[in-house]
Amino acid sequence: MGGDTLEMREVTTMRDKNLFVVTLRKAPRWASCASLLLAAGCAESASTPEAVLIGSMSAALEVGEPVTFNPKTAAAVTGRHAGVSVLHGPLMSDATYAQIVANEFSDITPENATKWGELQPESSPLVWRFDQADDLVDFGVANGLRIKGHTLLWHQQLPSFITPSIGPLVLGTRIALHSAAAVSRYENEIFAWDVVNEAIADDGSGLRDSIFSQKLPNGWIDREFRRVNRQDGDAELYYNDYGIETINPKSDAVYDMLEEQLSRPLLPVPVDGLGFQGHIDARFAPSVEQLVANFERFAALGLKLTISELDVRIAELAGPRDHRLAIQKQIYQRVAMACVAVEACDGITVWGVSDAHSWIDFTFGVDDPLLLDDQYQRKPAYYGLVEGFVGALLDTSQSAPNLVGNSSLEAGLDGWSVQGAGTLATHTELAHSGRRSAVVSGRTANWNGPRYDISAFAAPDAVFDLTVRARVAGAASAQTNLSAQVTCAGEPSTFVQVASAPATDAGWTTLSGALILPPCAATVALYVEGPAAGVDIIVDDLEVRRRPAGNIIPNPGFESGTQGWFGWGPTQLAVTSDAHSGAQAVRGTGRTDSWNGIATNLTALVQAGRQYTGSAWVKLAGASSSDVFMTAQVVCAGENGGAPVTSFLRVAGATANDSSYVELAGGVTLPDCDITTMNLYVEGPPAGADILLDDVTFSPVPLPPPSDNLLQNGDFESGSSGWFGFGPAVVSATSARANSGTQSGLAANRLANWQGIATNLLGIIEPGASYDASAFVSVSSASDVVNLTLQLACDGQPASFTQVASGTANATGWLELTGSFSVPATCGAVTTATFYAEGPPAGVDIYLDDVTLSAQ
Ligand code: XIL
Repeated sequence: MGGDTLEMREVTTMRDKNLFVVTLRKAPRWASCASLLLAAGCAESASTPEAVLIGSMSAALEVGEPVTFNPKTAAAVTGRHAGVSVLHGPLMSDATYAQIVANEFSDITPENATKWGELQPESSPLVWRFDQADDLVDFGVANGLRIKGHTLLWHQQLPSFITPSIGPLVLGTRIALHSAAAVSRYENEIFAWDVVNEAIADDGSGLRDSIFSQKLPNGWIDREFRRVNRQDGDAELYYNDYGIETINPKSDAVYDMLEEQLSRPLLPVPVDGLGFQGHIDARFAPSVEQLVANFERFAALGLKLTISELDVRIAELAGPRDHRLAIQKQIYQRVAMACVAVEACDGITVWGVSDAHSWIDFTFGVDDPLLLDDQYQRKPAYYGLVEGFVGALLDTSQSAPNLVGNSSLEAGLDGWSVQGAGTLATHTELAHSGRRSAVVSGRTANWNGPRYDISAFAAPDAVFDLTVRARVAGAASAQTNLSAQVTCAGEPSTFVQVASAPATDAGWTTLSGALILPPCAATVALYVEGPAAGVDIIVDDLEVRRRPAGNIIPNPGFESGTQGWFGWGPTQLAVTSDAHSGAQAVRGTGRTDSWNGIATNLTALVQAGRQYTGSAWVKLAGASSSDVFMTAQVVCAGENGGAPVTSFLRVAGATANDSSYVELAGGVTLPDCDITTMNLYVEGPPAGADILLDDVTFSPVPLPPPSDNLLQNGDFESGSSGWFGFGPAVVSATSARANSGTQSGLAANRLANWQGIATNLLGIIEPGASYDASAFVSVSSASDVVNLTLQLACDGQPASFTQVASGTANATGWLELTGSFSVPATCGAVTTATFYAEGPPAGVDIYLDDVTLSAQ
């Protein structure tokens, strides 16, 4: 429809050149601009900002499929669109922001600039400011982006002249002018408008209580759609709302409204589409099936669908950050999969470019809801959106999600490299899932292959379940391994084979296995290797799942069966739906003695001499109450050719019953022997009673962080051992003062300033090495200088004295002294090395605590 009906009276007083006065004439934007009195302001707003130029260079849509996907090109695979909301400030000032918008998305929605209150920020209802909206529209046009207007009628971000006391007629006039001005100005540039936003009450009871529903006669939503349709007959007109992604009372109410509007026999309301905002809290995220079921009923009304403001909050989700980011990835992927599954779904717009730009922080609290982090680095969510559009494998595990962001290699080779020699590239012909995989060619040794660093997920004692899909090219078949290179800080790497199987050039082989990390801070890289040099290795769909809290129990929840477990004695195992958590537990039947039970073999997974905590949830059937135990059977190899020694260690015990699950929790220290067998099992109830078991954990107790202190008793907590008087000073450990713990060292009976409290570094320090020393000191006097001194002699020569550190100590607190020293490389052998605290005049006592010495 032509919008030639509006006439607009002219001019208000202009206070600055960016102030626009809208003409009443229907005209495309450039024409109306020229017709304005404020030609200067128009011209200025039309000028091209620098950021536009940067963005426009690579804006053209690729022809055919690109080598790697981004949101725009991934969405395009099935004819979908990927959009992003855009803020004026960063678009104008941040070239990276502008570049990402232009390159990675097909659509933009002004995040605020086309809201009513932004277009009419003045107190006068006849003044419009289009400068920011113009900038965004210019940018979109220059970069070939589709632009959606957001939003004409919304109860928030309204102009100040829309007051609670406004009358219905004035409100109606204001709406008419606002809609006409906004829609006509961008008639040629904006392809769709969110005509009405958030009009339905959260409980689905009807219209939201708003200025519109209070003041305007019934039918205001219909009238607004008709008005905009008359103004711009080509624009797609959307109703937009939140909390309507799944079937619920609110989406039911939206459905009823739209169905009624569209089914009017004479003049259906011109609603073209529905926007599901998609502000999702990860704790309550919908499944693909839930989304699809809801989308389909709206599609059946003939509507276009879009997820219009997608973001996924993870702050309230349980678990460490990498776990939460992995769940976030799943949710983005689900939404994209649901969109692809429903023909009418036009695409997804994410509500912000990066976590640094999200509205969520200000509305729900600090969070990271978007695709890119504060530094524009791709998050797992980014890959999830892309993977959802191109149909890559969806991870469904919530308890141990796949931590790998770029698991399916659809968006490029981020995070992947090559172990040793070879060339890594995206494979565009083969994929285990989705449309891309990675290939390493030019391998020159069998241990070369694609590599993925998982150090970011590593922790001491962490247990990972790993899976990768592999195939080869250049050989019909070749034994292929999933290996791990594990490097504890400061130590040489160890190489662990996680899985091994023949890979072929005809299909995908799944390599799966568990990796247990040592109790150190380690860097860890996975790589696929094995085939002879010259054979190419192709990989896809890497999964890295960390078992909760270093739990070494394989299959602790029985959700997929009883694998990894066996009957102890004649016990038979089967899954049961009577579970403590999840859908399944295991049930042991046919027990003929109290020691019969449900067992798992942990021999390869435990460390001798290590302390473990164990827990499990148990329930009985066939006995109303009985003690149940978690027991470890440990077999140590016999010493000096002697017989093996078997011991049964109680890990935990509790009284179980047949009405609800009870937790067994306890701990055990394994013998420090050569462990040849270790079985963990649950037993105890009388013969005939069944044991139900679920959620078993057996986790090593973390070791204290390794100390690099070369001194054994620098904190005097074990008395004064290792310390002696330098000169006739008398040394003891005292609880009179302590910097940490309960004791410090004390040098009393000092007869000269050079006397003090000393330790012998012979056998500890070496020629050619340098050391850092630190200590806390205190004195019995009000204030005196204390020195840390090294007496050093080489090759039987006379000693020299080095002042390592010095400072003024007092009687009321502790002074930290730090310094360093070197032992000359010319020193053949250290023959005297005494490190001591001295300095105050005779009669003053020296207190010393927390002495450390470490090699540089
Ligand atoms: C938000 C913007 O993101 C913020 O910058 C602004 O301060 C408030 O509005 N539903 C909508 C969007 O339809 O317009 C809102 O956008 C977020 C909720």
